[in-house]
Amino acid sequence: MCGIVGYIGQREVVPMLLDGLETLAYRGYDSAGVVVVRDGELEAVKAEGKLEQLVEKLKGESLVGSHGLGHTRWATHGAPSERNAHPITDSKRRLALIHNGIIENFLPLKKRLIEEGWEFTSDTDTEVVANLIGSYLKHDLKAATQQAIAELEGMYAFAAVSTVSGDAEIVAARKGPPLVIGLGDGECFLASDPAALLAYTKNVVFLENGDLCRLTAAGAKIWDRDGREVERQTVRLTWDPIQAEKGGFKHFMLKEIHEQPQAIQDTFAGRVDFETNTIGFDNFALTSEEAARIERVQILACGTSWHSGLVGKFMIEELARIPVDVDYGSEYRYRDPVVGEGVLALGISQSGETADTLSAMEAASDRGAQLLAICNVPGSQATRISEGVIYTHAGPEIGVASTKAFTTQLTALFLLALYLRQQRGLPIEPQQLSELAKLPHAIADIMDTEAELEELARRYARFEDFLYLGRGINYPIALEGALKLKEISYSHAEGYPAGEMKHGPIALIDESFPVVAIATGSRVFEKVCSNMQEVKARDGVVIAVTDRPAEELSEVADEVIQVPRSSDLLQPLVNVIPLQLFAYFVAVRRGADVDQPRNLAKSVTVE
Ligand code: AGP
Repeated sequence: MCGIVGYIGQREVVPMLLDGLETLAYRGYDSAGVVVVRDGELEAVKAEGKLEQLVEKLKGESLVGSHGLGHTRWATHGAPSERNAHPITDSKRRLALIHNGIIENFLPLKKRLIEEGWEFTSDTDTEVVANLIGSYLKHDLKAATQQAIAELEGMYAFAAVSTVSGDAEIVAARKGPPLVIGLGDGECFLASDPAALLAYTKNVVFLENGDLCRLTAAGAKIWDRDGREVERQTVRLTWDPIQAEKGGFKHFMLKEIHEQPQAIQDTFAGRVDFETNTIGFDNFALTSEEAARIERVQILACGTSWHSGLVGKFMIEELARIPVDVDYGSEYRYRDPVVGEGVLALGISQSGETADTLSAMEAASDRGAQLLAICNVPGSQATRISEGVIYTHAGPEIGVASTKAFTTQLTALFLLALYLRQQRGLPIEPQQLSELAKLPHAIADIMDTEAELEELARRYARFEDFLYLGRGINYPIALEGALKLKEISYSHAEGYPAGEMKHGPIALIDESFPVVAIATGSRVFEKVCSNMQEVKARDGVVIAVTDRPAEELSEVADEVIQVPRSSDLLQPLVNVIPLQLFAYFVAVRRGADVDQPRNLAKSVTVE
């Protein structure tokens, strides 16, 4: 998954491109490059490594021009290198291209182009697109691009500039990964993510799949997949640019962990009437008849969003009495699922652009399911293919490790479970909502224990292996805690149902293998205590997360992380917070790159 940014207008091009790439760096950071068009010539500078390498290299250049493109790369075809960095030109150097996605038929196209005399200097599929457009290019970049994309198979979001264009223009096309246009006064912007445009404009247009656009300083023209000129809706972003900045925190991840009380509050605000104990959404509604017809909910998601789906299963089954399946997006469509009209397919995605989740959502919809999305990014693909959307109001999440998106997804799932309950004629109890109202304060209180968690992380940062245990609704939290630790600190961590430990993983336990056990609530507390005793009996080390007084666990835990008590269904939102902070401080202690962990990207827009 890569970051794309483009600009055309009166500003200095390169500073704007670099600023946009800075915001998009979370989308991929193994190389970066910019290109400007100056006096009919293409001038490009590229660098391997993070964006800072490119910035350093540009200090020695005087790149000026009327328009240009910038790219930050997450390698798919071709190893990370300057040679494979974008922008990539055609071999006649008449156009430069930046690209996000995978061209599935690039090999036969490359073979044909080589036979036609086109030369290749990189290992990328992107260069095939550049030469293919070049092979059709006379004086009309948009026409040449239109001819080229007719031959492309796969997923792409790309933008091109050329030396043959009479006036300054950028041509871009989208099929799969996101592309958004920013509209300014006498200037136009292009980016993979609206967060990159926030400092310049809040008026954006999300391209649809199959769209081709031509940007000039005067504005944008868009054609759909059938070549018809179309008008796409202009969306006014409500995000504040400052939200996309670090706000004084060392890392975006720590800032976003601290934003969770507010983000949770913003996600349920306006959707809960605490006087009438009712729930309502602005982008999703079911009549009581429609709600009664739902026989099953199928949750489709990946990674952390899949973990929120596992928690959502408990919430929906307990509150709405509807059976719930939870599937990995990447697995769902390959198991020939049983769907039909009685199925509500729920896609959960922070970015709304995760290819595996989108494919599963489309597969469910093709089989007759009603499609609903829980998503954090307005106008993203998941929101466009769904019949209804429940937005998480977390604001832009820049850190690759998902935190506030996760807890706002759980908030949205709790609201959905209550809504389905309500629409199916079951009463919502006041205490079910009062606990929700208290949640932001309970979570804010945990932030006050940050210093203790940092100290705990200091003592455990040297361990290479961890086992996270949870039961019932806290089993997904064990999975999430383990994912947070492994993806940002590179230490191995495994989440497991506590009851399963004796069926295998207990063989791993010794003093070098700390166990993090989630021991909250009433239903399974004693059982988890037994599991902790089993660990202690084998010289294991136990770190317990609990809502009980520490002395109750003095026999079974070496370390106790105390958390406020909430309702059983909302306790997961509380329990995950110290696990996020623990993972963060271990990663910092281990010198890892917290916001941009190696090999990862914020949204995986390729399958
Ligand atoms: C979580 O910390 C990871 N960044 C990753 O698992 C992420 O949750 C997953 O890729 C799904 O992304 P999405 O929510 O944007 O669909």
